[in-house]
Amino acid sequence: MRGPGEGPRSAAAWRDAIERHKRQGDIDLVAEADGQLVGMSGAIRGEYARNKHVATLGIAIRQSHARHGIGAAMMLALEDWARSQGVTRLELSVMQSNKGARRFYRRLGYRTEGRKRRAVKLGDSYVDEVMMAKQIS
Ligand SMILES: CC(C)(COP(=O)(O)OP(=O)(O)OC[C@H]1O[C@@H](n2cnc3c(N)ncnc32)[C@H](O)[C@@H]1OP(=O)(O)O)[C@@H](O)C(=O)NCCC(=O)NCCS
Repeated sequence: MRGPGEGPRSAAAWRDAIERHKRQGDIDLVAEADGQLVGMSGAIRGEYARNKHVATLGIAIRQSHARHGIGAAMMLALEDWARSQGVTRLELSVMQSNKGARRFYRRLGYRTEGRKRRAVKLGDSYVDEVMMAKQIS
């Protein structure tokens, strides 16, 4: 699974990233259906005293399994993990053009806090990045 405009990432690169996240106390979650990987999500915490209460989230669900509630379940699992770690702020970014994902996040309680103009490059075009966040207790 990969973001739009990205090439495939090798299994070794994924393994390295997951090991690094484990060492740092971050989390990676996967969703499986019939032995197949259908979803990936993760959260990375701030490194310093000043931002340890913040985690940055990412998620991707295989298109064939979208709109079955898997994404929402994974986001809530990340939220549970965040609470257990004392994280009080969840952040993410999403392309302005990704209306479906923006709606998904809004329904989960994320609010738009800003926009980074032309922050993402897809081929030869630039897209704005929308910054969203949710405070949890
Ligand atoms: C966006 C994404 C994570 C949502 O995961 P999902 O498992 O499909 O979402 P869920 O089934 O849990 O959806 C929960 C609700 O979110 C909203 N939603 C989800 N996907 C939506 C879409 N494409 N368009 C509009 N609303 C959407 C709906 O309200 C949905 O409830 P409903 O299906 O009962 O109407 C997933 O579709 C995905 O990975 N898309 C491609 C990659 C991506 O955009 N990742 C996020 C990048 S920041």
